Amino acid sequence: MIQKPKGTYDVYGDYSKKIKYFEKLINSLMEKYNYEYIRTPLFESSDLFHRGVGETSDIVTKETYDFKDKGDRNLTLRPEGTAGVVRSFIENKMYSNSLLNKFWYYGPMYRYERPQKGRYREFYQFGVEAFGSSDPMMDAEVISIPVNLFKLLGLKEITVHINTLGDIESRNNYREALKKHFKPYLSELCDDCNNRFLKNPLRILDCKVDCDHSCIKSAPKISEYLNEESKNHFENVKKYLDSMGINYVVDESIVRGLDYYTHTVFEVEAKVEGFGSQNVLCGGGRYNDLVKTLDGPEIPGVGFALGLERLFTALEYENIDISEKINLDVFIIPICEEAKTKAVKYLNVLRMNGFNVDMDFLGRNLKNNLKTLEKINPKFVMIIGEEEINSGVLTLKNNETHEEYKVENENLIYFLDSNIEGE
Ligand code: HAM
Repeated sequence: MIQKPKGTYDVYGDYSKKIKYFEKLINSLMEKYNYEYIRTPLFESSDLFHRGVGETSDIVTKETYDFKDKGDRNLTLRPEGTAGVVRSFIENKMYSNSLLNKFWYYGPMYRYERPQKGRYREFYQFGVEAFGSSDPMMDAEVISIPVNLFKLLGLKEITVHINTLGDIESRNNYREALKKHFKPYLSELCDDCNNRFLKNPLRILDCKVDCDHSCIKSAPKISEYLNEESKNHFENVKKYLDSMGINYVVDESIVRGLDYYTHTVFEVEAKVEGFGSQNVLCGGGRYNDLVKTLDGPEIPGVGFALGLERLFTALEYENIDISEKINLDVFIIPICEEAKTKAVKYLNVLRMNGFNVDMDFLGRNLKNNLKTLEKINPKFVMIIGEEEINSGVLTLKNNETHEEYKVENENLIYFLDSNIEGE
């Protein structure tokens, strides 16, 4: 039997009910925030991720799904959403309207990682990217999105961690300080860290192999190297978060796994026992240079993305069930051959009048149909037999109270309208 690829999963049953609810929620939340939906291709030119996400991030160096198409183009399945959205923003000259451009996206991402709970090779992200404002208010708005989403879902055990990486000047100074600090330890650090030392020493702080080495713990802190502008920016982000009533902790260990960040970075963590680093439900930050790096104008951006699978695990852990049940209004049971014609007619008419309707397609007898009604759980059951066809009067049964109603054909819609509460 052919099986699904490693690190992927199928969506069905309860999981698909949860997804339906979640998708509706992010749709309505993003309307409230006035963000526009954007969709970019699942694969992009490989260069985009190398130049955009960075040559020192694990995501690009080790985890991409790269392939050549028949035209010999180097393509990559997107490992994240930011680079594609930035590419689209530049390519479609969306910046020319001089307005603030705020986008949200939702879709699958691909990373060749070691699969485990909360870590997949195909996973779903909901994310946003806001271009055009360098105001710290924008950072605070973006941070507020996952925080409010988690609140709406009823998640309680979450912590917002924020940090700043400063502007280019501050980062360059910090980079030099880190180089000086790490140089004597290079022979004790892993190959990746030796490579990071040359290209982006900040990423050594994020190493999963060397994380317990004393030189990482004793490394200089970014806060000692921030210039005035960077300090101000971060102070203002905190001020605006305070004003929004959002609790956070400043956590200098957050450097993020992608190369494009400047100034604010943040992660929101859950507290699922045994979930380890997969407790990071979402992450994001400001990227003031990425649009320019990808050959666009000098336009700042800030965004975040959250992993759907991790969010669902956190919800399960807090016993929060978001699965959306379909409320069936009517289930039609034709009990003789001639009744089928009437049954499909009502099936169609009622659906087009806004009711949720299904019928027995299995040709089961009445007894067997009634046995499964508990599972199907419609508000009304409509049984059509010879009597109903001849008399023009329909029989409807309230599935909860078992009360029976006789309804004239032409009064059916009126009857259902008056007896079923609109959602
Ligand atoms: P990221 O931290 O790489 O950031 O991913 C964001 C979230 O995606 C993570 O917090 C996690 O929930 C989820 N995630 C990542 N990898 C996996 C995986 N293998 N399996 C399941 N879930 C995963 C970004 O992707 C940035 N593009 C975020 C961003 C947007 N920054 C600015 N704008």
